[in-house]
Order: sequence, then C-alpha cells, then structure tokens
Amino acid sequence: MGPDQGSVADEGVRPTPLKGIFIRTYATLKLNGAPMVAQARINGSSIDVRRFERRDLNRVVEIELASFGRDAWPADAFLEYWRESLELFLIARLGRRIAGYSITRTNWRGAELESIAVDPRYRGRGIAQALLDATVPRLSGPLRLMVSRENEPALRFYQQYGFVRTRLVRRYYGAGRDAWRMRLDRPLADARGSV
Ligand SMILES: CC(C)(COP(=O)(O)OP(=O)(O)OC[C@H]1O[C@@H](n2cnc3c(N)ncnc32)[C@H](O)[C@@H]1OP(=O)(O)O)[C@@H](O)C(=O)NCCC(=O)NCCS
Repeated sequence: MGPDQGSVADEGVRPTPLKGIFIRTYATLKLNGAPMVAQARINGSSIDVRRFERRDLNRVVEIELASFGRDAWPADAFLEYWRESLELFLIARLGRRIAGYSITRTNWRGAELESIAVDPRYRGRGIAQALLDATVPRLSGPLRLMVSRENEPALRFYQQYGFVRTRLVRRYYGAGRDAWRMRLDRPLADARGSV
C-alpha cells in the first residue's frame, strides 16, 4: 500500500504516506451519506464493521505487526490516518474480537485504499471482503491501491473482488520490490458479478 507519489521508497521500507502535502491533498472526504456501521454474514460468521476509535489502536497495531512485520506502520501513523480519514478508517469484528482493519482516503481523483490487514488467525473468513463491502458503496469514484508484486494472497483477493491491474511500478517498495497499481471502477454489485 502507500501513495502513488511517483517516487521510489527507501529500500526495504513500506512507505508511510503521512507527511506534508500528501495529507492536505487527501483531506476532503466524499461520502454518499450511507451509515458507517455495517453488518455482514459471510460463510456463516457474523462480522461487524464500524469506524475506528482510539481505544482500538493497540489491537490494530497488533494486527499490523502480525501482517507486515518489519514493514508495519507505527502507532502514530494510524493516529494520523484517524485524524485525516475519520469516516473510512474501519475495523471489522468477528464476535467481540477486532479481526481486521482498512483505511481508505479520498481526493479529487477518487479514493485510495491505503491499507488493509486481517489477523492471520482470522483470514479466509470474509473479513477483508466485509471491510471493502462497507467502504466501496460510500465512494463516489474509483478505488485505487498499490500492492506488492509478490503479495500473492492480496493480489488474488483484490482480483477476486473485481480490481484490475493497471500498471507495474518498479521499485515502489525499494530495490527489487515492485508494486502493482490496481483499480476498482465499477459499483460493488456490478464488480462482483451480481447485478
Ligand atoms: C489480503 C488479506 C487482507 C485478505 O483478507 P481475508 O480476510 O483473508 O480475505 P477474505 O476472507 O475476505 O477473502 C475473500 C476472498 O478473497 C480471496 N482470497 C483471500 N485470500 C486469499 C488467498 N490467500 N488465496 C487465494 N484467494 C484468497 C478468496 O476468493 C476469498 O473468498 P473465498 O474465501 O470465499 O474463496 C489478508 O490475507 C491479509 O491481511 N494479508 C496481509 C496484509 C496484506 O497483505 N494486506 C494487503 C496489502 S496490499
């Protein structure tokens, strides 16, 4: 994940797009007024999606570390996103446990999925799908993202969801670490073939 800043990140570091002008560029949210709490039942599990709150921070950082290891964003980065992306920083709960989070920011071009991660123990249960299902209907334009070329599970997840690869960005995550730019253009129902 990370911004399409057109610059190469430091070697081996997952970009943390929280500095300077980038924040201001992404400050305006365009939502369609839908309620911010969603409930999904996927594969027999009940999943609640709600907005991130300050008390969720430790758990989100835990999921981040378990998901990205040395590339994990620090707690401060999440607090920054919380201030800037209040409406679309979402967490998903399986029962009473926070199982995943997603962060989307919007600008005049559309929206950027900045990050999404699910606790390894809860993957494959539709958590990430529920997070995107709660996000996409609230967007007025396409949803874009960056994903490591080597992140096969995420690539498969995004493709299954309806994202398409638009271009390969060499060295986006540092030397030898290319990323795919992906985009979801169509409304949710259409994108997932269930119009
Ligand atoms: C990518 C990620 C967010 C997916 O989360 P998830 O909750 O396991 O995904 P879901 O259960 O909602 O998957 C929905 C569908 O996506 C596809 N999918 C998800 N993970 C997959 C995998 N590892 N292999 C193949 N297909 C996969 C499946 O079609 C799945 O539907 P199905 O289970 O009915 O077949 C999760 O693997 C993760 O947190 N990875 C580490 C962090 C990361 O890489 N984030 C993305 C950074 S760009």
